[in-house]
Amino acid sequence: MDKRAIGVFDSGLGGLTAVQELKQRMPHENIVYFGDTSRVPYGTRSRETIQKYAAQDLRFLLSKEVKVIIAACGTVSANPPLEMIAELPVSYTGVLIPAVQAACAATKTQRIGVIATPATIRSGAYGKEIRNILRSPTIIGKACPLFVPLVENGYIEKNNPVTRMVAEDYLQVMKQERVDTLILGCTHYPLIQDTIAEIMGDSVSLISPGAEAAKYVQALLTNQGLLNHQEGSGTCRYYVSDEVSSFAETASLFLQDDVSGQVEQIQIE
Ligand code: SIN
Repeated sequence: MDKRAIGVFDSGLGGLTAVQELKQRMPHENIVYFGDTSRVPYGTRSRETIQKYAAQDLRFLLSKEVKVIIAACGTVSANPPLEMIAELPVSYTGVLIPAVQAACAATKTQRIGVIATPATIRSGAYGKEIRNILRSPTIIGKACPLFVPLVENGYIEKNNPVTRMVAEDYLQVMKQERVDTLILGCTHYPLIQDTIAEIMGDSVSLISPGAEAAKYVQALLTNQGLLNHQEGSGTCRYYVSDEVSSFAETASLFLQDDVSGQVEQIQIE
C-alpha cells in the first residue's frame, strides 16, 4: 500500500484524458497534475525546447513526492529527455508505447493512422514503435497543429462548427487511405473525440494515448504492490503555470466535475 500520488503532466489540458481514466480505474489513488499552460503548445517547438520543458515538469512532480510519473503529452513522449528519465527515482511512462500496443492489437488491416503535433510527426516515433510490433504496416501520419489551440480555447463540444471544419480537412487523408485504426497521438485530441469519431465512422478504432497510459500504470502499480487501498476517494490537485480560471473551466467541463477549488498556479521556470 502506497499513499503517494500518481504524477501526471502535459503542456495543458490533454493529460486530463489520463486523469479521467485513472480516476475511473483507481478511484482511491491520489493524483497530482501539472499543465504547463503558460507554454502550451509544445508541439510546434524544437526538440531541445520540448526536452527542457519536460525536464522542468518532471522536477516539479518529483518535488511533490509522487510514486510514478506519466508524461501524458504525446509531444514529450515522442521527444523525451532521455538522460533525465534514466536517472529518475520513480517509474515513468510516456503515452506512446501504450498507445502503439493498443493500436497494433486493434488493427485488422494493418493500416494505421497517426494524428499528432508537428514535433511528434517529425520525430517518427510512432511509426518506429509500430514497426517494432507489426511486420508490414501502412502508417499514415498527419500533423494537426490547430487541434491543440481549439481544445485549449474550449472548442470541445461535439460538432463545434469550427472544430468540425478543421477536423474534416485534417482527416480527409485518413479516410482516403482507409485506415482502420487511428491513434490520437496528442493527448489533447480525445477531448474532441466525438467530432473525430463522427467523421471517421464506426468502423475505425480510435486510440486514446492518455487512457492507454493510465491502464499501463494500473498494471505497473498492481505488479509493484504500490496501489493505494485507502478508504474513500483519492484527492486530485491540479497545478498550472498560467492563470487558473480558463483551465478550471474547461477541465470541469471535460471531467464533468467542478475542479475550480483544486487548481493552483505555480512558477515552472
Ligand atoms: C502540445 O502541447 O502541442 C500538445 C501536447 C501533446 O502532444 O500531447
